[in-house]
Amino acid sequence: MVVVVSLGNSSLLASRIARGLGSKCKVVRVKVGAFPDRDMLMRYLGDVRRQEVILVQSFQPNPQKSLSLIQFAALGAKQLGAKSVTLVAPYLAYMRQDKMFNPGEVISARVMAKVLGVCVDKLITVDPHLHRVRRMKDLFGSMDARAISANPLIGEYVKKKFRNVVVVGPDWESFQWAREVASICGSECTVFEKTRYSSRNVKVKMMKQVDMKGKNVVIVDDIISTGHTVIEAAKKSWSLGAKTVRCIGVHGLFAENAISKLKRSGKLTEVISCNTIVHPSNKIDVSGIIVKELKRRKKSSKK
Ligand code: R5P
Repeated sequence: MVVVVSLGNSSLLASRIARGLGSKCKVVRVKVGAFPDRDMLMRYLGDVRRQEVILVQSFQPNPQKSLSLIQFAALGAKQLGAKSVTLVAPYLAYMRQDKMFNPGEVISARVMAKVLGVCVDKLITVDPHLHRVRRMKDLFGSMDARAISANPLIGEYVKKKFRNVVVVGPDWESFQWAREVASICGSECTVFEKTRYSSRNVKVKMMKQVDMKGKNVVIVDDIISTGHTVIEAAKKSWSLGAKTVRCIGVHGLFAENAISKLKRSGKLTEVISCNTIVHPSNKIDVSGIIVKELKRRKKSSKK
């Protein structure tokens, strides 16, 4: 039997995954409380002995708390006799700090990978920020860690909803998403070159010339955090004659109330995200691709 456990950040997604996995799957709730001194007290409200436990938890909101809940829930499930623990982290945090940018900085991506490596057996995540580290294997070593992509879903969404589209990757890193999305929806694609002066100050310029006059521009990025990247890309698209400018983020972090900033900027016709992080802008559901991956793994582990 497979047991799906939500740790709070992705409850709706967890129920959809459980439904998608069908009758051989049950949902078990976990109660998270605290002692008077605030030590965490976690309790499984159902039996996980000899079960394959699937923990579902996005790392947003609150990446630190999410990581510690995952550690307790994963190691706790094993204490209680679970056969295996798979973490489904639709959004995996800490991936952007993948090198030491300043002396003395901790490489968070490596720490996170080590921590997960000791508590979960398998990891499935959606479009992790693989940039300088290119493959999951380079970060997670021998652990069974798999990245799946929301690109096909985004491509189909754009194809169904909009016409006369130009897909824009606001920087080189996002070009991998933009190019695939454009090829699925059969539209033109370009990439901007981004210079980041600080966390909150970026500038972009167009590298590959594409006619944007009268076009419906769709900016595609893996992460929308403070929103500055998207705002600058939108400004540039309007200045090149775009008719509408939308953005689609796989992971809508919307840090520091970025969603209000995006609205106030008046530069975005619409802001759309996948449901890897719960947000009112969620329009693209990733539960189907996660279920498909879980089923694929189950099949291949039986062979
Ligand atoms: C950068 O490497 C990512 O792909 C995103 O472009 C970036 O994280 C967006 O950040 P912000 O919204 O803060 O500009």
